[in-house]
Amino acid sequence: MRGKKLLLLVGLTLILTACQGSQKEEPKTSIRIGISLYRGDDTFINNIRSVVEEKAKEYERESGIKVTLDIQDAKGSQNTQNSQVERFIALGCDVLCINPVDRMDASLIIDRAMTAGVPVVFFNRQPVEEDMNRWDRLYYIGVDARETAVLQGRMVVDLYRKQPDAVDRNGDGVVSYVLLEGESSHQDSLIRTEWSIQTLKDGGVPIEKITGGIANWERSQASALMEQWLLACPDIIELVVSNNDDMALGAIDALERAGIADVNVIGIDGTTPGMEALKSGKLLGTVSANKELYGSAIVGLAVSCGLGEELPEEYPLEEGTYYWTPQEILVRDSAQGEGIEEN
Ligand code: GAL
Repeated sequence: MRGKKLLLLVGLTLILTACQGSQKEEPKTSIRIGISLYRGDDTFINNIRSVVEEKAKEYERESGIKVTLDIQDAKGSQNTQNSQVERFIALGCDVLCINPVDRMDASLIIDRAMTAGVPVVFFNRQPVEEDMNRWDRLYYIGVDARETAVLQGRMVVDLYRKQPDAVDRNGDGVVSYVLLEGESSHQDSLIRTEWSIQTLKDGGVPIEKITGGIANWERSQASALMEQWLLACPDIIELVVSNNDDMALGAIDALERAGIADVNVIGIDGTTPGMEALKSGKLLGTVSANKELYGSAIVGLAVSCGLGEELPEEYPLEEGTYYWTPQEILVRDSAQGEGIEEN
């Protein structure tokens, strides 16, 4: 009798376990995404964040799957970001979207994510290859820095070929420029600087560097540097090459304070304030990442790997890991004729 009871119990347990197993396989009706930004006050990152929020709502409406975004600001601290990641995992996030503070130091985040089995979509600040190769559920979304730089150089080359005096403002056969660089540890700063200048040289623009400096992507830092340069080298600077729009706007602020209007300023990003400066003619041009695609790739990839679905085909991944967002040149109308030109 006891033997029969035991068998019945074992049988029931097996049936229950099987039922629980099949329940687990039911499709998820909600997803929780943990997002950490290296700095919440960065203009470009904020533009991307807005698109991500918009695309997540769009996905929720279309799919009926509830999307919870938990967005945190790491305020420039890798330690803070690491704690945010711990919290996301403790809260049961299905996927993480990380804009690393220190791209060289993503290993702790990767360790935690791997242990918990939570995939990670990194963006904008590219972790080193060695880290990215540690797991096949790590992805990166960004723009190709060399392509950005070549496009930035090309906009001046094109203008110089059409209208040399629009670039060589004093007509002395030399284009004197200053350079504003982003954070020294960021992959974009070095590559953008190198290839932008190389493209100007290869394109036959007779450039000469007056000076340059690091302004860490920031408008106020760039404005202070430009103010010093204008005082030290009055009436010489003809072109400001900036690694991003915010620093370009800082240079424009300093030029305005000094009452100078004939210096060309070029940026990168196509941020909201950058686009305003372009429309009002203060910025000569910028290289704009397609933010719609950038943000929708973050959401699309995060949602599909968080739900354990196949990855979306519209964001082709190089080496199964990297999605490079397309970008375009935008120049002000006076440089090209009609309206803002998109190449
Ligand atoms: C760059 C962008 C900068 C800044 C930086 C932050 O790609 O051009 O404006 O946002 O990323 O990592």
